Amino acid sequence: MSGVTRRDLLVGSAAVLAAPAFAGIAAHRTFAAVDQSIEMHNLTHEIVQDMPTPGMMGFSADGPPPVIRMRQGETTAIEVRNRLDEASTVHWHGLRIKNAMDGVPYLTQSPIEAGESFRYRFTPPDAGTFWYHPHCNTLEQMARGMTGVLVVDDAEDPGFDQDLPLNIRDFRIGSKGQFLEFYKARNTARGGTLGTISTVNWRIDPSYDLPAGSLIRLRLAVTDLTRVGHYTLEGGEAHVIALDSNPVPAPMTIEAIEMGPGQRADIALRMPDSEGKRVELILRKPSGDLRLASFRATGQSARRQFAELKPLSPNPIPEPDLGTAETMEFVFGWSPAGDAPANPICGSLGYLFWSINRIAWQGDTPDPLAPLAVMKRGKSYILRLRNETPYDHPIHLHGLTFRLLRSNKRPIPPLLTDTALLKAEETMEVALVADNPGDWAFHCHVIEHQKTGLAGFLRVEA
Ligand code: C2O
Ligand code: CU
Ligand code: CU
Repeated sequence: MSGVTRRDLLVGSAAVLAAPAFAGIAAHRTFAAVDQSIEMHNLTHEIVQDMPTPGMMGFSADGPPPVIRMRQGETTAIEVRNRLDEASTVHWHGLRIKNAMDGVPYLTQSPIEAGESFRYRFTPPDAGTFWYHPHCNTLEQMARGMTGVLVVDDAEDPGFDQDLPLNIRDFRIGSKGQFLEFYKARNTARGGTLGTISTVNWRIDPSYDLPAGSLIRLRLAVTDLTRVGHYTLEGGEAHVIALDSNPVPAPMTIEAIEMGPGQRADIALRMPDSEGKRVELILRKPSGDLRLASFRATGQSARRQFAELKPLSPNPIPEPDLGTAETMEFVFGWSPAGDAPANPICGSLGYLFWSINRIAWQGDTPDPLAPLAVMKRGKSYILRLRNETPYDHPIHLHGLTFRLLRSNKRPIPPLLTDTALLKAEETMEVALVADNPGDWAFHCHVIEHQKTGLAGFLRVEA
């Protein structure tokens, strides 16, 4: 189990590369036109050793979803083949791309039916750590495994020795390796249903061998469906260089980074100088610390220094004009009505517990409800996000990146993000420029909340 696999580090698995001519090309891609492909599969896999879990779903025939890599500003096509027995789509979480490529059923495209394919093609404007997942029957497909990391490489190499994506998530697996029910309604109406087994890259507590004294870019992506947690590193020198794909204004220490479902943290880690020393990735739980992964120093120290790294360049995100910005209010609360409509194609849990502005999203249907708000292209807006519930809600907006302005509960740094982690009863104001036209999904990323009403969309007029 030790050692960094090709899949963790490189362009992805060979399966990601459609054109055979590209199959031998590893870390440093220099070609311009990129064509990749992924396949959605049913599979059986051993998350727990010697206890295979049947009924998994993934983006590869035989293992964890590949890390998809692309370059900032470079047009990439990804052919998605659906080999599941049901419809799906792929959403590229955090990428500010054309609306038609955003992967939301009916809002931006028709579901990709079983046996069919869809070719996504876009140019990522921002560099950083992102991820991808289905947006149809989302709870079940993600619970069965369909969450992968997507890396957009910086136009300019910051100078790390290695880059290590860490896909952090739980599975709900029972004592015989079988899936447990993916949610319990009583939890869905509260904070959500937690997993039973924590994994990194589909492995329980993996250990990675990394050169002593080297500089490593850890790309943490919380792709879990539910868990809001505190993460930290012990045993090495490290600091946070980016959150939710965007460089932080100044390097931040890692006491405990709080991340909800969908959030990411890029960490610059300097491996210890002495061979055999370990750095540990820890999840701080109320019940005690849990080690999620460890990194073991090998060989003679490379003696790298943080000062040798180039700072990350900011992503080209327009700065909102707070002087002229219009304020829009969004209230996240319980649902005024009870049951959800009969099974739409992309799945329903049969309940509506939650709402935005008192409207519960009915599920993905060919005639979606009206937008929660309409924004004029190019104008600045302040979104006042009010959580009137005693639970945390990571509120995510597709297609646009916003800046955190203030909270009524705590000081918050002026981060750029696509996901605002609203704590219990917190009101946060965030600002953006509505520069990307289209209908953009807007929802809680606790998937049970999303699927039971806490969803909607914002329209940016063309
Ligand atoms: Cu990762 Cu609609 O979201
Ligand atoms: Cu998204
Ligand atoms: Cu929520």
